[in-house]
Amino acid sequence: MKYQISITKTLTPKQKPTDESALGFGKIFTDHMFLMEYDKQNGWHNGRIVPLGPIPTHPASTVFHYGAEIFEGLKAYRAVDGTIRLFRAEENVKRLNASAERLCLPEIDEEGCLDAIKILVELEKDWVPHNQGTSLYIRPFMYGNDEFLGVHAVDHAVFAIICSPVGAYYKEGLKPVKITIESEDVRAVRGGTGYAKCGGNYAASLRAGERAEKKGFSQVLWLDGVERKYIEEVGAMNVMFKIKGKIVTPKLTGSILPGITRKSCLELLKDWGYEVEERLLSVDELFEAAKNGDLEEAWGTGTAAVVSPIGQLTYQDKDYIVSGGQIGELSQKLYDNLTGIQWGIVKEEKGWSKVICNG
Ligand code: PLP
Ligand code: COI
Repeated sequence: MKYQISITKTLTPKQKPTDESALGFGKIFTDHMFLMEYDKQNGWHNGRIVPLGPIPTHPASTVFHYGAEIFEGLKAYRAVDGTIRLFRAEENVKRLNASAERLCLPEIDEEGCLDAIKILVELEKDWVPHNQGTSLYIRPFMYGNDEFLGVHAVDHAVFAIICSPVGAYYKEGLKPVKITIESEDVRAVRGGTGYAKCGGNYAASLRAGERAEKKGFSQVLWLDGVERKYIEEVGAMNVMFKIKGKIVTPKLTGSILPGITRKSCLELLKDWGYEVEERLLSVDELFEAAKNGDLEEAWGTGTAAVVSPIGQLTYQDKDYIVSGGQIGELSQKLYDNLTGIQWGIVKEEKGWSKVICNG
């Protein structure tokens, strides 16, 4: 093993949720967390699993002042054969390091990071919920904690992992969501941090998200930050459209998060014979297609949101209903196949779903 990991178990385990239909997203946390520190001299060290609790942090720490923070999101599933599995976790670890590189945080050994995730999940396996559509959401994160107010790449950092049993991300569940296209704020620009999963991107997106929520929308769909013309992504999902039988999705220009669910869905769609276009898609082209009846389906993809059909798109106070406001056939097929792979129902040769332990 790359990193030594000690385990200190809690003496006061919490009661697990009894009503799994009321889990929601990210409200309940398991008994333990993983912690590890970094400094220039020792590299990553002191890997340990300890009872979940506050992490003492100096008030001058870089994370509080300059937003030196990145995170990941992946899930452990209780498969139908009773095993606990992870879905493409190695992709999350790679993206964590890509985010670390962008934010000048220290990269982490991929195998060592995967080991930490697996050991924590195995310890918390009884927290992986059982109901269809539920899972254990795993949130690895890293932040700089230099006790120094100068603006500088960090010399000290903490890597942590916490876990939360979850149900559906949106209160709608698999029901189509209403999305509004944001024309005022922007989330990211090319050359910025859009492709990294860093806290700052989400902080920048909150104001528009709040405005949208007050108007009854689930999330906003961002336009590019330069021309404010091209479709980018939704707050916590990538987006895909079925236009005249073809799949169109914004290409990864550097301002969009390279979603693992996006990558997986594109692969499945190609396997099924769909023509897939990763390209710039302007909001004008999208609404032209909507007006002409060529926009057949729209959906978002993300770890938390899985495959989330979009039933309504609103732009500058004009509403466009997609798929008659219903779950589109292809969105449903993608959801069924992806979750089928994750829960071990659908056989796959890709090796995406990996057994960690018996449940
Ligand atoms: N875009 C944003 C902004 C996200 O927060 C997420 C969620 O992680 C995604 C896209 C989808 O990425 P993934 O499929 O890797 O979860
Ligand atoms: C995820 O899908 O993992 C996300 O990060 C979405 C959101 C909770 C930030």
